[in-house]
Amino acid sequence: MNTSAPLLVTGGTGTLGSLVVPLLRQAGHEVRILTRHGRASGDGIEYHACDLLRGDGLSSALDGVETVLHLAGGPKDDDEATRNLVGAAQTAKVQHLVYISVIGTDRIPLAYFRAKLGAEEAVAASGIPWTTLRAAQFHDLALTLARKMSKLPIIPSPGGMRWQPVDARDVAERLVELALDAPVGRTPDLAGPRTYGLGDLLRSYLDTTGKRRPMLQVRIPGSVGRAYRAGENLAAENASTGQRTWEAFLSEQAA
Ligand SMILES: NC(=O)c1ccc[n+]([C@@H]2O[C@H](COP(=O)([O-])OP(=O)(O)OC[C@H]3O[C@@H](n4cnc5c(N)ncnc54)[C@H](OP(=O)(O)O)[C@@H]3O)[C@@H](O)[C@H]2O)c1
Repeated sequence: MNTSAPLLVTGGTGTLGSLVVPLLRQAGHEVRILTRHGRASGDGIEYHACDLLRGDGLSSALDGVETVLHLAGGPKDDDEATRNLVGAAQTAKVQHLVYISVIGTDRIPLAYFRAKLGAEEAVAASGIPWTTLRAAQFHDLALTLARKMSKLPIIPSPGGMRWQPVDARDVAERLVELALDAPVGRTPDLAGPRTYGLGDLLRSYLDTTGKRRPMLQVRIPGSVGRAYRAGENLAAENASTGQRTWEAFLSEQAA
């Protein structure tokens, strides 16, 4: 890897990306951040305005870049955004494309997971040497969910649904290692150190915040419910695990 070439981080303004960028800077690399909203550049970080769903501005963002960490994502259309990025990265002769995906893309029948699978496929078929890491849901997402649910007078708790929430800092550290190393294709999944029933996750949030709410067991119907109850969102046996626990994350947030 050419250590003087800047790395491009799509989604560098997001929850994960904003943890990845300082680690790349600490490792001595110049960083370009691709974002839909322009910002002033400085301190070794250059912002490039681009909406990946339109692709405008991609060629200048990729000019002279050898490694791309593709962390931009939204509730939908990640496949289309990734295909646009891949097309421009092929032209720019990118040498390593690192992608963050989610565990269960090929097993959970929801549009979000299907789009992530389409994005994984675009990366793998790009002809560019690649690395894809599938991660479990971040603690931040579990916290957002718990906060929203705790506003309800009764909290619905889907029976049989389990999560292995992982700390976004553990994911960021792993991604930086992968990006600074040689491309490996699919790398073992990264999940949190413990598995929880969703109800237990919510209960621990309520306990930490001193809130009291009754919980009502509900059953998610159809193929989505069956997939979750079968644990199709959980990491494979060879998965790596993050260090930081949900309980430690909650304590930090409470403090
Ligand atoms: N959150 C989780 O639990 C979880 C778990 C596993 C994998 N992942 C994956 O990890 C990635 C990062 O997740 P996150 O939670 O950090 O996301 P986030 O906080 O919601 O941030 C999303 C990022 O994507 C960028 N983005 C969204 N749409 C874009 C577009 N059309 N063009 C350019 N940039 C766009 C946003 O940039 P601007 O708003 O600045 O334009 C922002 O930086 C996503 O791919 C997600 O699927 C997340």
